[in-house]
Amino acid sequence: MMAHRPDVKEQFNEAMACDTRLVIEVVVNEYGHIFKGLGSLVDIGGNTGTTAKAIAKAFPHVRCTTFDLPHVIESATRDASIDYVGGDMFERVPSADAVMLKWILHDWGDEDCVKILKRCKEAIPKVGGKVILIDMVVNPNSPSQDSTGSQYFFDMLMMVLCEGREREESEWKKLFKDAGFTSYKITPALGLRSIIELYP
Ligand SMILES: C[S@@+](CC[C@H](N)C(=O)[O-])C[C@H]1O[C@@H](n2cnc3c(N)ncnc32)[C@H](O)[C@@H]1O
Repeated sequence: MMAHRPDVKEQFNEAMACDTRLVIEVVVNEYGHIFKGLGSLVDIGGNTGTTAKAIAKAFPHVRCTTFDLPHVIESATRDASIDYVGGDMFERVPSADAVMLKWILHDWGDEDCVKILKRCKEAIPKVGGKVILIDMVVNPNSPSQDSTGSQYFFDMLMMVLCEGREREESEWKKLFKDAGFTSYKITPALGLRSIIELYP
């Protein structure tokens, strides 16, 4: 729809950029160690490049690429510090030391998530490579009932808007196993959301 409705696309992209400006500042300032040792990173579904620009600015040694659908990449304002690649994450994603997926997998059902994760695994080195997810890990036993309630609200929103959902750790674990990853680490870092690192 957004490919045919430039007004909706512009609003959506600006909403994504607003969220990213808040979240990525916390990630690079408080959890910068996750980028240690990386020479390159590709942000899959990176929209117009807000995440990649912030990482490239904070860690100039990491060459960053924004990857998204061609019509999204065409409308991105270019920044010389990052590369822009258009394509379909279900077919192939550019290779890099790390692949990032921020707010992507909650848009999709389990079968599609496994397909996307398999493409990501193919794109990273078997040794030293990783996939970094920024997404929700629903915790029904959280002492903060307000947070859990908000996570369930997002779960319903994803169900209504697309085929997606929010997932508990056991549900994430199954996806990671089905996609062939051997281990993972969850850091509950960002209020409702977590940083999840996956290792091949
Ligand atoms: C919810 S937005 C997240 C954007 C960004 N990662 C963020 O957190 O601000 C999902 C993004 O996935 C992109 N996308 C959807 N289908 C895609 C596909 N098949 N291949 C690549 N990108 C895709 C959309 O264009 C959109 O930019």
